Amino acid sequence: MKAAVIYTSVTGNTATLAEMIHEHMEKRGVVTDLIPVDDFNPAQLTDYDIIAVGTYSWDNGELPMEMEELFEAFEDEDVQQITTGVFGTGDSFFASFCGAVDLFRDMLYAQSNLAVTLKVELTPQKGDISKCDTFCDRLTSRVAVTS
Ligand SMILES: Cc1cc2nc3c(=O)[nH]c(=O)nc-3n(C[C@H](O)[C@H](O)[C@H](O)COP(=O)(O)O)c2cc1C
Repeated sequence: MKAAVIYTSVTGNTATLAEMIHEHMEKRGVVTDLIPVDDFNPAQLTDYDIIAVGTYSWDNGELPMEMEELFEAFEDEDVQQITTGVFGTGDSFFASFCGAVDLFRDMLYAQSNLAVTLKVELTPQKGDISKCDTFCDRLTSRVAVTS
């Protein structure tokens, strides 16, 4: 089983969450690449059994510009067999809290084997550790069931 956590982050909140999820995946013995989206080649999507996508939200719940290529790659490639999850940080001050997570969720639900989503308010706190654990449980158990 090979996994990737692909994320973007400007001020560090989503990067922290990505690192927490990466740590929980590795604790389960799943070899997991932690990759900033700018370093990810979309041609490698199908190398993975599990992909967790991490994004902040911008401009009234929109995708950050740097996530658009990854989003389109999921739309264009045959990724039905990939178990996916999407997580993100946002600020509930904005009307569309973690709207970019919702955009990925809806697309990944149609395109892939979407297992789980997670939204966190700004900086991840200790209480979010168990949410990361559950996030990884859902990802790994979905692969165990379907493979
Ligand atoms: C100009 C601007 C627009 C934002 N728009 C939204 C939004 O629509 N929805 C949301 O949930 N958060 C919004 N945010 C908050 C960020 O998504 C949040 O701070 C996030 O944790 C940043 O992630 P990062 O630290 O990984 O860069 C906005 C922040 C800024 C500065």
